[in-house]
Amino acid sequence: MKKVAIEKAFTLIEPSPVVLVTTYDGKKNNIMTISWITVKEFTPEFILVTGPWNYSFHALVKSQECVIAIPSIDLSEKTVKIGACSGSDTDKFEKFELTAVKAESVEAPLIKECIANIECRVTEYIRKHNIFILRGTNAWTDAKRKNRKTFHAVGDGTFIADGRKINHRKIMISKIPEGV
Ligand SMILES: Cc1cc2nc3c(=O)[nH]c(=O)nc-3n(C[C@H](O)[C@H](O)[C@H](O)COP(=O)(O)O)c2cc1C
Repeated sequence: MKKVAIEKAFTLIEPSPVVLVTTYDGKKNNIMTISWITVKEFTPEFILVTGPWNYSFHALVKSQECVIAIPSIDLSEKTVKIGACSGSDTDKFEKFELTAVKAESVEAPLIKECIANIECRVTEYIRKHNIFILRGTNAWTDAKRKNRKTFHAVGDGTFIADGRKINHRKIMISKIPEGV
């Protein structure tokens, strides 16, 4: 085996798919791109990493809510561009021609062009680690969408597209929930 710089070890473990996170700070809607997000067990809880260097961070702290919008591979370029500019000086819904849809339980909007959206409330913020714990309050999926492939950030500017789905349900020991 060839040694890998420990600072780059994270690129060996790809995280959850790249997602968009919308917020509403009381004045305007905003969107940011997030690759550091993971599910917490089978609970409707999610762990997201961001900090005060982003405009969205302040909206998250102020409103204590957000929407996790999941883009499919066809939105990959737009998603990266959304993560390369700031809501402090850009209306990202307008610039990237995305449609804000009213959510049911939070003020932050759903994104119509995404394959799924999860409305969330912040339950905890761990400042030391820039970690937000989110609890899902409502989840939506666009059941009509055929292309449901998401994409994953390696962390070096490259991305991995979802591939073939493999079904190992029969050999799983624990009871697992049905997929959507
Ligand atoms: C592919 C990709 C993944 C990103 N993942 C994260 C992340 O997990 N956490 C984070 O704080 N910023 C992440 N960013 C950077 C933010 O999306 C970026 O700073 C964004 O412009 C913030 O927008 P805002 O200032 O409007 O909140 C990512 C950017 C890209 C392009």
